[in-house]
Amino acid sequence: MQNTYQFISDKGVFSLPGAADYSDLYFPVAGECGIKSAVTPTLGGDCKLDQNTFLLEPVSVENLHNNRNARNFWCHIGTHGSWSATGNSAEEIAKKFTDLADENEVTAGFMWQTVTRTSRKYQLSAQITSFVPLDDPMEIMYVEITNTGNMQVRFTPTAAIPVYGRSADNLRDHRHVTSLLHRIRTVENGVLVTPTMSFDERGHRPNEMTYFVCGYDQTGEAPEDFYPTVQDFIGEGGNFERPKAVVKNLAGVPAGSAYAGCEAVGGLHFKERILAPGETAGYTIMIGAVRKTEYAGETILSMTAAYRTAAQTKAAYERMKTYWEQKVNVSYHTKDRQFDRYMQWVSFQPILRRIYGCSFLPHHDYGKGGRGWRDLWQDCLALLLMNPDGVREMLLNNFQGVRIDGTNATIIGSKEGTFIADRNQITRVWMDHGVWPFVTTKLYIDQTGDLAVLEEEIPYFKDQQAGRGTKKDAAWKAQDGCWQRDAAGNVYRGSVLEHLLLQNLTAFYEVGEHGHIRLRGADWNDALDMAGERGESVAFTNAYAGNLRELAELLALYAEKTGKESVPLNRDLFVLLADDDTLYASVQKKQELLTRYTDACIHEVSGQKTEVSITELVRSLQKKAAFLTGHIRATEWVTDEEGNGWFNGYYDNHGRCVEGVFAQGVRMMLTSQVFAVMAQTATDEQVAEIVRSADKYLYCDAMGGYRLNTDFGEVKMDLGRMFGFAYGEKENGAVFSHMAVMFANALYKRGFVKEGHRALDALYRQSVHFETSRIYPGIPEYFNSRGKGMYHYLTGAASWYMLTVITEMFGAKGCAGNLMLEPKLERQQFDLDERAELFFSFAGQSLHLVYENKEHKEYGAYRPGTIRIDGELWDYSGGEKETRSVCIDRERLKQLDFDVTHEILVELV
Ligand code: G1P
Repeated sequence: MQNTYQFISDKGVFSLPGAADYSDLYFPVAGECGIKSAVTPTLGGDCKLDQNTFLLEPVSVENLHNNRNARNFWCHIGTHGSWSATGNSAEEIAKKFTDLADENEVTAGFMWQTVTRTSRKYQLSAQITSFVPLDDPMEIMYVEITNTGNMQVRFTPTAAIPVYGRSADNLRDHRHVTSLLHRIRTVENGVLVTPTMSFDERGHRPNEMTYFVCGYDQTGEAPEDFYPTVQDFIGEGGNFERPKAVVKNLAGVPAGSAYAGCEAVGGLHFKERILAPGETAGYTIMIGAVRKTEYAGETILSMTAAYRTAAQTKAAYERMKTYWEQKVNVSYHTKDRQFDRYMQWVSFQPILRRIYGCSFLPHHDYGKGGRGWRDLWQDCLALLLMNPDGVREMLLNNFQGVRIDGTNATIIGSKEGTFIADRNQITRVWMDHGVWPFVTTKLYIDQTGDLAVLEEEIPYFKDQQAGRGTKKDAAWKAQDGCWQRDAAGNVYRGSVLEHLLLQNLTAFYEVGEHGHIRLRGADWNDALDMAGERGESVAFTNAYAGNLRELAELLALYAEKTGKESVPLNRDLFVLLADDDTLYASVQKKQELLTRYTDACIHEVSGQKTEVSITELVRSLQKKAAFLTGHIRATEWVTDEEGNGWFNGYYDNHGRCVEGVFAQGVRMMLTSQVFAVMAQTATDEQVAEIVRSADKYLYCDAMGGYRLNTDFGEVKMDLGRMFGFAYGEKENGAVFSHMAVMFANALYKRGFVKEGHRALDALYRQSVHFETSRIYPGIPEYFNSRGKGMYHYLTGAASWYMLTVITEMFGAKGCAGNLMLEPKLERQQFDLDERAELFFSFAGQSLHLVYENKEHKEYGAYRPGTIRIDGELWDYSGGEKETRSVCIDRERLKQLDFDVTHEILVELV
């Protein structure tokens, strides 16, 4: 029988026997002080603060089975041999695929991993827990060695952590030369490495970091001596899997030794231990990095001394565990307990992406840290459901990345409000970027009722890039700073509403020859990146149409709630509100209008604001939305020979329609359908047809559901790199979780509950089917053609999955700040007591929502009946109405006591 993992707690803790026997498994362990690690079942992986500060050598997924320099902990057992407690020894590798191999198991929860390894030969077992303490920039390996035999064991322990200590860029760029910069010292409890410079041929800079590997035994005793250099540790002809220093139990060097210009290793040689049967010895090994060259030594000593004894380390571990478990303040209860527990991991993943961005795990071997624009906004969706405090601030900061031409900086640094135009210094515009801020802001306002956020005035990002990436502002100088200025030279500030309008209105005018919004650098699908001249994304034209419509609704609500009739807007953008039919119908006129606007503000804005009537604004937005929708409906519906229909979503760089029936076969893309359904371009009948076509052409049960596209059978150089990928991989026809979840979301929204649930369920079943997915719990970025989960953990799919389960499946969503309940659970999802439950927070209250479906009704047949809040009948107006939703007033929730969980029991009738 194949191994698989089992959940052992409701907070996501799971265990996987034999984890080290699977390839490519990695686990994220990180903290709030900057440490980001990846650990494998054999303690491979890496550890870093950022792109330029890698403590351990950076790894891609291929390195997980190639590299020998993993974290290691050795037990030298006299003439018997030397046992690697992490499984990284030549001896253990020689035993692979035989019955003599060590037994091993991984147990893990949020931000911690424990590996247990037992050796029959040496009668020892090791339990190694990896975690990052809350308060310090270090990764801790807490090692416990136990005598499992019935004779005493005498052994000498050595921790061996190779220290890379430099930028990831130096992996293949002067790897050797950068080792010459290393200055290595041994101190009382470990090995410190302080490179003299940060190597960069564009301008070398003094280095500020000191890397360290320090340790104590459980009583707080430091190592006896040290092996600080790789050369001396592995010995001539040796390697990390058979290091001479360990094999021969050589004497190390004392504290106070110094070396220069060589590769470093934190080799901590502890004193010999004798363990009686059943006895355990503990060791705390700390791997970290601190700034400030001069004082590093002392800082490190005082910092590491806080984990001197086993008791101190264990207390830090418990604090860390509680901290991360509390961060996920939602939980789910349905008939399927495994699903509920799986959802804990899905809910934790957006937190991981906040920390790791889209880089720094073994599959994510691109990017240099920071967070991509669209990912940042979408991750906010989940973060705002879990912890709305602080989100307002985050939104305001992020909006400052918008340029006056409606485009935006694409990377946001780890400090809020720090922007980078493009990480690869290429001028690019992703045409979908303007869509996401509104989606997130809308959810924020719905969840909080905070309409005033629309009025907040914030600056615009400014750099040389102008005219939506088509021009350069020759008058701009770097020293002018990164904020847009007005004619008087002052930093110009516009409202959040104005930022939103600019993003969506400029897109409206940036059309290609078929009247849809131009694809530019790409849309959501980064791999549609080869149709910059003539490509169009109908898919995202839908999304903009949806935004314009919903923005109009939001403005109407704003007027109603605030009593205001007008809003102040930058006079320069009035031109974008133009509204005549000849303009809409003419591609050329729209392009010209856009150019007029972007040219006018190429360097500065007038800075003058004028009041605009909200009624006029609403009308203009609605009209634009209606035009786009009508245009797509009229021109983009395609059918196959049997009459199955769906929407075309793209035009290629030759201006040709991409989807439909071609000589190479049927071409259909999921993204095109998702936004047509979500933005209501598709009528109800069309939604049903789209589902039929998607089932026929895209659905693959063995891969986790809806694939991203059919096989185009062509390397389509006029559309994007995705067509160079093998079919079934990543953006070319894999089951790409993010879009599959958004399809589910769109279907739920349109009331296609069975269909939406099926899409979500297929992803869940595939994820937890370890036999093929080969990933720990959670949703991966995609499933490849073998059904294997790829790019695990860091994916926008998690945010959307969680959002969909809470706001659609459980139907608990904000509506202008009030709590709307509109369950869309299928009968089979209720437990044996016919209940389905959700713990979540809303309006600052922690709530326990219970749906009771006593009459075993199916979705569509039930509606909310009586409602009890903390056992008390709540008399809501409309209770007798035949509606599928109820709305609980925010004020009503606010009246409840804080700091306790309140039960909302909804009887479905
Ligand atoms: C990743 C990227 C995302 C991009 C997508 C498709 O998706 O992070 O920006 O839109 O690939 O190219 P994710 O797995 O985060 O959903």
